Amino acid sequence: MGTRAHLDAQALNRFAGWALARDGKDVRIEARIDGQLVGSTITGGERPDVERLCPQYKRSRFCGFSLEVPFDAIPADRVFDVVVSAHPQSPLLPAAKLGTVRMAGTELVAKLANAPRSDITGPFPSKVIDVVAAMEPAACTDLESVIGQKAFVEALIRVLAVPSLRETPALADYMRYLRAISAHFATVDAFFPTGNAASRAEAHDFHGKPNSVGEIISIAHQLYVLKSYGIDGDFAEFGCFKGFSSAMLSFACSQLGVKMHIFDSFEGLPPAPHSGYTAGDYAGGLEEVQENVRRLGAIDVVTFHKGFYSDTFREYRPPQLMCLWMDVDLELSARDLMVVADRLHPRASLFSHECIGEMFQNGEIITSPRPDNPIPPVLDKFEELGRPLTGRFMLGNTGALWPRESGIPVLAFEVLDDLLRKLREILPRSF
Ligand SMILES: C[S@@+](CC[C@H](N)C(=O)[O-])C[C@H]1O[C@@H](n2cnc3c(N)ncnc32)[C@H](O)[C@@H]1O
Repeated sequence: MGTRAHLDAQALNRFAGWALARDGKDVRIEARIDGQLVGSTITGGERPDVERLCPQYKRSRFCGFSLEVPFDAIPADRVFDVVVSAHPQSPLLPAAKLGTVRMAGTELVAKLANAPRSDITGPFPSKVIDVVAAMEPAACTDLESVIGQKAFVEALIRVLAVPSLRETPALADYMRYLRAISAHFATVDAFFPTGNAASRAEAHDFHGKPNSVGEIISIAHQLYVLKSYGIDGDFAEFGCFKGFSSAMLSFACSQLGVKMHIFDSFEGLPPAPHSGYTAGDYAGGLEEVQENVRRLGAIDVVTFHKGFYSDTFREYRPPQLMCLWMDVDLELSARDLMVVADRLHPRASLFSHECIGEMFQNGEIITSPRPDNPIPPVLDKFEELGRPLTGRFMLGNTGALWPRESGIPVLAFEVLDDLLRKLREILPRSF
């Protein structure tokens, strides 16, 4: 039966908990910052719950404490640790540590909550960049390179590790979104129908989930980033098959209040000689896709446009688009859908399947026309519009593209993955 103590709660300058010593006497609670005593109190508060838990201790009904550290003893403008400990009156009895609480001074909390606009453009939400820039400006100087993005993530994690700083609204909103899409996408991945009973022998489309959560979460992340920079418009998906990516991305759109358009024949690929595909591959019926999106996505934000692109866009003009995701397998399909390119916001992002890492070389996109390569028609169209594209390889078969001059860079997948892994480490109950 040693000294027992527990810190139940801390907020601002107040600490509450309980402590019990073997001699049955009240216990002194101390708070220290940098080894200096900044506050102390004596137990005595009524705690019938602890009495039930520790009936063998004499004073267990009156072992509670509430300790207030004077604000003028707390550093206002930096992060610091408060060590809280319990000290029995008898020097023969052992002291007990209740915990070390990482805290931020009130001025620092206010500084981050009111972080000035940094005017830095990068692949993170603009206000999140502003917050990190207010705390660690050096971590925001190179948001284009993977090394620079990783340095930013490390600084962000240092901020998020401090409870009172992580409550900064811009950070809390970003975390809520990341948490929501991570959890939702994992659910879709686990429960989306895998088999495609209609697949021909030897066909590519035997599997109902032809891309990965990592590829789609990169797109969902960029949607949040684009919105944070005030890029207006809807989101368009070209090529949905059974609706695996649609289920995930419609959920992301619903979180953001963005409308989503799904363009598909709902009869599979059109004929495309020498492409290696057969007409009708990757067919998902309209009702089948709608049912999947209803069950595992957010159908309310989606408008379905049925038809081959060469027919659909003969008359239809989509509204302004802030982002486009295409997984259409074919050069001719990309050419047909690129008639919407001028509907894209000048700062919009594009994502395409059928990319390989070697295509992306120091910001240049090097590729050559082939019937199964949808990228050249995209590059050509944006050259024609006077908005040449740059980009980066993401993961699997997905690449990200954005206008070199006006676009907002897309976060490298390995950095997003690193961020999510670190969040799981520091906030295991939230991520
Ligand atoms: C590989 S699948 C898309 C996979 C989807 N992103 C997913 O998560 O399952 C290709 C899709 O593009 C559609 N598609 C390709 N070319 C098309 C065209 N020219 N017109 C309409 N739909 C087309 C096909 O019907 C098919 O649904």
